[in-house]
Amino acid sequence: MADPDRPEPPRGPLAGVRVLLGVSGGIGAYKAVLLARLLVAAGAEVDPVLTSGAQRFVGAATFEGITRRTVRADVWEDIAADTHVAAGRAAQLAIVYPATAHTLAKLAGGLADDLLSTTLLAATCPLVVAPAMHTEMWQHPATRHNAEVLTGRGVHLLGPSDGMLMGGDTGPGRLVDPEAALALLLRLHGGRERHDDLAGRRVLVTAAGTREPIDPVRFLGNRSSGKMGFAIAAAAAQRGATVELVTGPSSLATPPGVRRTDITTALEMRAAVLASVDAASDLDVVIKAAAVADFRPGSASGSKIKKDAGVPTIELVANPDILAELGARPRDAARPLLVGFAAETDDVEANGRDKLRRKGADLLVVNDVSGADAGFDVDTNRVVILGRDGERTEVALTSKSEVAHRILDLVVARLSPPD
Ligand code: PMT
Repeated sequence: MADPDRPEPPRGPLAGVRVLLGVSGGIGAYKAVLLARLLVAAGAEVDPVLTSGAQRFVGAATFEGITRRTVRADVWEDIAADTHVAAGRAAQLAIVYPATAHTLAKLAGGLADDLLSTTLLAATCPLVVAPAMHTEMWQHPATRHNAEVLTGRGVHLLGPSDGMLMGGDTGPGRLVDPEAALALLLRLHGGRERHDDLAGRRVLVTAAGTREPIDPVRFLGNRSSGKMGFAIAAAAAQRGATVELVTGPSSLATPPGVRRTDITTALEMRAAVLASVDAASDLDVVIKAAAVADFRPGSASGSKIKKDAGVPTIELVANPDILAELGARPRDAARPLLVGFAAETDDVEANGRDKLRRKGADLLVVNDVSGADAGFDVDTNRVVILGRDGERTEVALTSKSEVAHRILDLVVARLSPPD
């Protein structure tokens, strides 16, 4: 019989894990109560930290009742206990749910003027940020910039999703459901052993789109921002790899510890990639997230093509396929593991499977780029990862950072043990 004086040890996938639940002042704050409940049911010890705005939407008593822990909200309370530093250090996972535009800006800028922002500056654990705001605010260049700064720092940006917003309008800006937040936290917790599983490995990542010049001012290009490739480079560096990033034009900051080579055209990308592959006999992995132009103008005009001369006819020639070229090399100990991507809109998986075979890759990450929340120039992605060995892994909509880690999990499983 259970001893009433001795509480049962926590059970569940997050048993005993300290989760810092930051809640900022958006209408979605009510969903944070549901998330707290899910976390408690998963066994977590939840430390809610509410901003003053959050407390106008939901009472601290609700969180206290659900988590059975004291809710902290004031940075000036109990100064002697160093609450923010202690809570930050103790956290094993942290999530800001919802994160308003203001909170996002404070985190990106490293500001620390309340308990939540000071605590998060003291935390070194994985951090998930789930933005929620009106579409216009989410799409504002300042917010986009802040989101990119956070992603570049390895923060897991989750959402927002597309749907009904406060006031009856619809669009991107809706807080993701608490179940999706829990699922990401569970995966992050499960991945803590990832810490340095790529130590001693060399990884080459390509990112962003190439630009193929038509004349000195015009080019053929595509919508790739580099977010997916940069997230992979950041994740591989976090896991201890020596990372080289060959990237087309991108405004993103180079992830910490990553060596970056900027290129513009597909031919330049090919030269940089092959030089790296051929120079480094110890290169373990090549991950080709770049959107390389399949065609380029046969000859770019040396001067700006004049409108008055009529509509020009631009003859295109095929670019070399870098992935296929590497994939055609003998599959021996010197050949790095090859990971390709496929951006598809129709028959997504079948086309991906075909590319995996044709290009000789070991893994192929297929993204369905027909939705607004995945693929090009967004912070989230939804992919299916196909292995040459027949393994199939589906990654539901999540941050590009998390997609990057899921790809690297499969890479690690396929690397032969280091010499
Ligand atoms: O940068 P983001 O905005 O974050 O967007 C990410 C992304 C959608 C660009 C990325 O996730 C992605 O899908 N990248 C590959 C896009 C693509 O060009 O797919 P593809 O099906 O055309 O090419 C298949 C593979 O062959 C890719 O690995 C590509 O790098 C490679 N390729 C293609 C053409 C070529 N000439 N040489 C190549 O190496």
